Amino acid sequence: MSGSRQPRLKVAVLGCGSVGSQVVRLLTEQADDLAARVGAPVDLVGVAVRRLDAAREVQVPEGLLTTDALGLATREDVDLVIEVIGGIEPARSLILGALESGASVVTANKALLAEDGSTLFEAAEKAGRDLYYEAAVAGAIPIVRPLRESLAGDKVTRVLGIVNGTTNFILDKMDTSGAGFSEALEEAQDLGYAEADPTADVEGFDAAAKAAILASLAFHTRVTASDVYREGISEVTAADVESAREMNSVVKLLAICELKGDAVSARVHPAMIPLSHPLASVRGAYNAVFVESEAAGQLMFYGPGAGGSPTASAVLGDLVTVARNRLDDVRGPGESAYAARTVLPMGETVTRYHVAIDVEDRAGVLAAVATAFAEHDVSIQTVRQEGRGAEAQLVVVSHRATDAQLSDTVEHLRKMDIVRDVTSVMRVEGGGE
Ligand SMILES: NC(=O)c1ccc[n+]([C@@H]2O[C@H](COP(=O)([O-])OP(=O)(O)OC[C@H]3O[C@@H](n4cnc5c(N)ncnc54)[C@H](OP(=O)(O)O)[C@@H]3O)[C@@H](O)[C@H]2O)c1
Repeated sequence: MSGSRQPRLKVAVLGCGSVGSQVVRLLTEQADDLAARVGAPVDLVGVAVRRLDAAREVQVPEGLLTTDALGLATREDVDLVIEVIGGIEPARSLILGALESGASVVTANKALLAEDGSTLFEAAEKAGRDLYYEAAVAGAIPIVRPLRESLAGDKVTRVLGIVNGTTNFILDKMDTSGAGFSEALEEAQDLGYAEADPTADVEGFDAAAKAAILASLAFHTRVTASDVYREGISEVTAADVESAREMNSVVKLLAICELKGDAVSARVHPAMIPLSHPLASVRGAYNAVFVESEAAGQLMFYGPGAGGSPTASAVLGDLVTVARNRLDDVRGPGESAYAARTVLPMGETVTRYHVAIDVEDRAGVLAAVATAFAEHDVSIQTVRQEGRGAEAQLVVVSHRATDAQLSDTVEHLRKMDIVRDVTSVMRVEGGGE
């Protein structure tokens, strides 16, 4: 902190893209309010970018742009560093450098936190500085702080989240218009909801990073992105969405984190959820996180999960907190990973399943299929049969069973003479037993 009679805080912003430009805008437009809320003026002293001459969505004050991100992050007089570059490197080295040089850090970097959060938290601990990251999960929605602070006295048992706006937009489009996946993806790209290369969103990598962060926070343990089971939505068909509708359900890409005894599970995959579940009403590119805890019961956090301005709102909220902490010479909560829980393999995860099977249309088929389920101890809740000439389709919804039991059942079904194909297997969440 600069040492005049009235303290002033110096802030450096690393990155000036979608989020960084809005952070810079809010820092300059709301300087007076921020000063009043923090208790001291917060002076923007530098903005690091890759290209000095790129077009920006904000007018960066004269002389503040630099390509020397490390020099800026490690400047001795900088009190607060905001990292909104993204990715693993150089973001990790920049955050570590900033902490070692004595700055407090705010980041929106889910990929880095999910891959190597422990290195960052340990560095923050060692330096005695804050590391805040509300914007890393579900954009503007306050969820990191509720898990880290508000629910710190409760026992969270389950977190179910729609944490990727791109995939929610695509699935919602498929539901409302009957479109197939490719058509809905194209529309999402045209409207700017999906990137030209949509892999990170569509294949669930982005949601898996967020699931790792949520599971770590909720269950006071370390879960990394590689611990999270991941399936994207590119295999979801218009027929799956139609089947869901027939069951009064919708298909959503869910991040699911559960406490099972002393262990945890974390997974991301498409699932059918009943229309009566609060997450079913999350439409378009919106996000929501549904938390179940022992004492509080059920809580839902809802709002815009991405976009420069909403994400910058979360970044600035963190900035105000770490700035106040800095003035008071205190720290907020650090990492809470004391529980050191085992992460269960996907095969041990328990849920319900919707299985569509094309079979020969003849007597005894239903009984044979039911026997295959029974052999693997998967009990059937409902079966629907539709004739199609010489073939029929059976749609089976099971009671709760492990993923391993279900995989064995599907493998068994695929080997049966009367089974032409198992056309769809989808997990069913948020319903009964
Ligand atoms: N966009 C969202 O809706 C959103 C939502 C939640 C969280 N986040 C997270 O926020 C972070 C930033 O995302 P974004 O969408 O704002 O990214 P972005 O638009 O791609 O911006 C990245 C910025 O970092 C700068 N940069 C890249 N490499 C650099 C380097 N080596 N040194 C200095 N600057 C460098 C770029 O400079 P140039 O401009 O010169 O290329 C650019 O200004 C990511 O961690 C992301 O996961 C984003």
